Amino acid sequence: MFIPEDKISEILNTSDIVDIVSESVILKKSGQNFFGLCPFHSEKTPSFSVNPAKQIFYCFGCSAGGSAISYVMKYHGLSFVEAVKMLARKYNIVIETPQLDPARRKEIALKEALFGLNKKIMAYYSSILAQNTKADGARQYLEKRGITQKTIDAFHLGYAMDQWDGVVTFFKNEKISRQAALQSGLILPRKQNNGFYDRFRNRIMFPIFDINMQVAGFGGRVMDDQMPKYLNSPETPVYSKSRILYGLHAAKPYCRKNGTVYIVEGYFDFLTLFQNGIKNTVASLGTALTSEHVRILKGYAPTMVLVFDSDAAGINAAKRSITIFMKEGVDTRILVLPRGDDPDTYVMNHGPEAFLDLAGQAKSVMQFLLRTAMDTHGLSVEGRIRILDEMKHHLADIQDSALRSVHVRELAETLNIDERAVLEKIKEQVVQRKQGQPFVPDSRGQEQSFASDPREKQLLALMLHCPDIIPEVTASGVLDCFYSQRLCRIAKIIVNADPVEKSFVTHVMAKMEQERDKQLIASLAMADGFGEETDLGNTAMSIINRIIRIKKKKENILTAKIMRAEKVCDADVMELLKLKQQEIRQIHDGQ
Ligand code: CTP
Ligand code: MN
Repeated sequence: MFIPEDKISEILNTSDIVDIVSESVILKKSGQNFFGLCPFHSEKTPSFSVNPAKQIFYCFGCSAGGSAISYVMKYHGLSFVEAVKMLARKYNIVIETPQLDPARRKEIALKEALFGLNKKIMAYYSSILAQNTKADGARQYLEKRGITQKTIDAFHLGYAMDQWDGVVTFFKNEKISRQAALQSGLILPRKQNNGFYDRFRNRIMFPIFDINMQVAGFGGRVMDDQMPKYLNSPETPVYSKSRILYGLHAAKPYCRKNGTVYIVEGYFDFLTLFQNGIKNTVASLGTALTSEHVRILKGYAPTMVLVFDSDAAGINAAKRSITIFMKEGVDTRILVLPRGDDPDTYVMNHGPEAFLDLAGQAKSVMQFLLRTAMDTHGLSVEGRIRILDEMKHHLADIQDSALRSVHVRELAETLNIDERAVLEKIKEQVVQRKQGQPFVPDSRGQEQSFASDPREKQLLALMLHCPDIIPEVTASGVLDCFYSQRLCRIAKIIVNADPVEKSFVTHVMAKMEQERDKQLIASLAMADGFGEETDLGNTAMSIINRIIRIKKKKENILTAKIMRAEKVCDADVMELLKLKQQEIRQIHDGQ
């Protein structure tokens, strides 16, 4: 689909990048920029910056950068057109959509149909819980578990009747298409292939909302000890277990305010905590936490507390999740509840204050891992070697070297082992991992190794910073003296961009085709320290003159050499010199 350029300008001019990024990253103002933890790579200290004046973002750690559109693309994994449309929706800008490709249009229509259908079924289940006499047992069950009417309403809890065709009949009456009905996962085809039956029967129903408050799926619990205790929607086009966290739609503002999020396992754990005022909580629904989960949460709270039962299954689940959190560089604490309790029973029995007290003593990841390893292996010589063997994996997972060295020292002290021995073990571990991995060259390093004349980049940065100097740049002819063809190409785009746009930088970016060029623009636009606005013209002129002078000098030297070679009729040397002339240009292209 083609989106007209003026629409893109309109969207860039209307949207506010701070606003957009703030939906997923906690930003703090510092000088002219806002800083936060980069959602695109793991880090502990913020190197991700947003500049409101230029309407761009840039990460000094991983070099991700661009306009509001690039951000939405990257963060939500959308195509350019999808991102533009998402922003257009947000700012009520109408884009006519005549020719959307048919496959994509179908996909979008199906998703919308599924969300709509889930919403209807949520209302259906909750009206049964509220009114149907056959739901007496369900209401009593919730009451017995201490769930108030307010919580039932807030989270739209419901009841699926003890029958095979409740939803099937509902779909029929509502004339829901067979495809949408089946894809919803709410009904299943009968074995004999004659008709369908309800997936959820005689269960308390929990709608699962996504972050935009749409109903993505459902969970259902039996009210006795039948198996399985819980049943969940299967993966559908709108429900993905690896992304969804139960309760986040409601917990979002509290996580922000608190800076901490409690991650519990179950529906009731979440509901009880929320109901008791501990609202900065989400539930993983018993599935393994993924890095996607963690990245999503990072946008709401820098500190995460994993709350687990103290049984073996709980401890193992904690250990599995920890690796993910470490790789994402998140400040993680582990709260293991007293034996026999889960968050729900603990708060029901001891109250929310007792829970918060306990949470205050939650261990750091390393303390937790060390403690469990010590409990398992003991502190004999052999035991300590086993502990070290176990811990080296975890230590090698820590990306931040300063943080790693703190833990290395701690571990060495606890085990009474020489720090160097611990370091040696980690090195082994790192080498082993590298051997098992294919070699991936670091593209960032490559670009640096072909450093072009830094003045060329400085000049680009100046033009982005102060478009007023552009006419002088054009007039001087300096662009034809650039050694880097890439920078020259980019400079020409800047020179031809319209300087009256509200956000000049994003306007320039929109004209770039390659992602890496957009990133370069973002990094250049983020550069500061140009001094007083009034001096910028002079700074630019002196850079321009320098570039031209250097080019002339190099050319003169080469010309002199070529002439000398001509004099002595050395064709080989001449050929070589001409090649060199070309070569210099190519190397500086920064490919
Ligand atoms: N779970 C699931 N399917 C199961 C068992 C568990 O999806 N067969 C998920 C549910 O989301 C459940 C969570 O894992 O809430 C934790 O499971 P568990 O600790 O067994 O249950 P509780 O949440 O304690 O359930 P309850 O308090 O209702 O007994
Ligand atoms: Mn429980």
